[in-house]
Amino acid sequence: MCGIVAYTGDQPAKGILIEGLKRLEYRGYDSSGIFILDSPPYLARSVGKVAELERRVWNSAPDGVAGIAHTRWATHGKPSEANAHPHTDCGSKLFLVHNGIIENYQLLKKHLVETGHQFKSETDTEVLAHLVEACYQGNLQVAVQKALLQVQGTFGIAVMHLDHPHTIVVARRGSPIILGIGEKASLAASDVSALAQHTDQVVYLEDNEVACLEPGKFSIITLDNRSVSRGTTSLDWDIESMDRGSFPHYMLKEIFEQPEAVENALRGRVNHSEAVAKLGGLESVQERLLQARHLIIVSCGTSFYAGLFGRYIFETLTDMTVETELASEFRYRKLNLRQGTVVLAISQSGETADTLAALREAKRKGALVLGLVNVVGSTIARETHAGVYSHAGIEIGVASTKSFTSQLTILTLMALLIGRSRDLSYEEGHEIIRALEKVPDQIREILKQANHVRELAEKYCHADHFLFIGRKYQYPIALEGALKLKEIAYIHAEGYAAGEMKHGPIALIDPKFPTLALALEDGSYERVVSNIQEIRAREGQILAVTTERNTKLGNLVDDLIYIPETHEAVAPLLTVVPLQLLAYYCGVLLGRDVDKPRNLAKSVTVE
Ligand code: G6P
Repeated sequence: MCGIVAYTGDQPAKGILIEGLKRLEYRGYDSSGIFILDSPPYLARSVGKVAELERRVWNSAPDGVAGIAHTRWATHGKPSEANAHPHTDCGSKLFLVHNGIIENYQLLKKHLVETGHQFKSETDTEVLAHLVEACYQGNLQVAVQKALLQVQGTFGIAVMHLDHPHTIVVARRGSPIILGIGEKASLAASDVSALAQHTDQVVYLEDNEVACLEPGKFSIITLDNRSVSRGTTSLDWDIESMDRGSFPHYMLKEIFEQPEAVENALRGRVNHSEAVAKLGGLESVQERLLQARHLIIVSCGTSFYAGLFGRYIFETLTDMTVETELASEFRYRKLNLRQGTVVLAISQSGETADTLAALREAKRKGALVLGLVNVVGSTIARETHAGVYSHAGIEIGVASTKSFTSQLTILTLMALLIGRSRDLSYEEGHEIIRALEKVPDQIREILKQANHVRELAEKYCHADHFLFIGRKYQYPIALEGALKLKEIAYIHAEGYAAGEMKHGPIALIDPKFPTLALALEDGSYERVVSNIQEIRAREGQILAVTTERNTKLGNLVDDLIYIPETHEAVAPLLTVVPLQLLAYYCGVLLGRDVDKPRNLAKSVTVE
């Protein structure tokens, strides 16, 4: 979604701001803009790629040492230069960028128009610029504070004023803002990736706080005027992981990073002698957790499919009743959050608005709320009672890949932790651990088949539709495989529980409608084979994923991908990998922008 980067220091701001915008590109955007405070002040905005704005900036921008910049993902008003940020006030003295949605903007705008303000765009953001202008009496931080008190909705903002050339005021409610404090410079951004190469000292702004940045220093007050004293924290961030290296796309790089992602998810988290998991982030709530009877998992997108896997693994390894709910639907359910209910929010970014709203609702109702989050220090990580970081490393490709395998690993560890305190035997616990520890090398084996998957992509990428089927543990993987193909290759794909085939999708099958069947030799193998036969009988093409020693499927299907033998509950960590590769290669062959698919955003911060 939208991205913010701001800089005030002793270096020309333009390069730092453009570089920051490029780091934020992966979050999704349709236009961008920059303001540099100089004499005269410089404002440039453009539709499309950041590279477009960059060309203009290098040609014409001054070397001013403070500025703000923005990538926009349109919500109010189409992507256009006029609607792109920064927005200005009537006197063009104040410049403002904004992430989020101002819910009462029409009412505010009406009042501002009546008092003589003139608007140049269709955005809700411009209202903020005029509102701050109306509240300004010489102190920018106070003006921003007064203006925001009138605002309903969500915001992360950065504001500059010509009267305060080295000052940037930022504020947040529901949309992240992180400060980066160096020796002679201060930065702010909506995502640490835009700060990390300049400083490792960061401050996470909380909701309803307004910060005033000057080179090398900052101060924070709340909207209700309390001053906040908060030190910086060190960022644990590997800058090198932000580059693509020799890979043509981040998505491919991240698919290939999955062996390490699983290793990192497991590192230091297994107690072999007790066949149990050690999850430091849950220790503070361990007593409540081990007594819990009811688990509700909330998440969106790929994280939701990880949650569906979570339902099976928790039900297998523990005696808990488990529900997995789309975070966006959570609020519409009349949930009986009885004592002993645990709500687990799963999120790569830790900023997804629906997941955040769901966890806040669960907290309000008294549930113990846990997080399974990748981005350290993100809002969901901070607002949950306790949690586990997935440690997958920064994920830049818009479509989640390595975060998903990390999430599956940690869900298994969490279920193991609870299961071993109940009736899961030492032997059963050990079997799971042994299987998990083999996964990194087994993924490496699967990745060696990348060329084979590419050939399959050449054969299948022109299909208009695709069906993915699986049962039990492989059902969420069928859904995830279909989602990947939709997101990356823009091929219409449906994921289905194989048993549901005959209740609808089989009507679609014909020689031009291929099916990918997840047909592992587990408890549901024979039934999946029956589904394959039903598809064959209707002349549908079938591509199957099965286990290495299975020689029986060859004459039933058109194409095969083999994965190594493993425990049934751990197999999803393997089967998802060829499905990610298939989507990736189909996307590349069809000329799609695989790292930044159209209309999608990495971090969805609006509900
Ligand atoms: C967006 C991304 C998906 C992601 C989903 C949930 O739609 O494009 O890849 O799965 O958000 O994001 P989260 O950060 O909460 O896991």
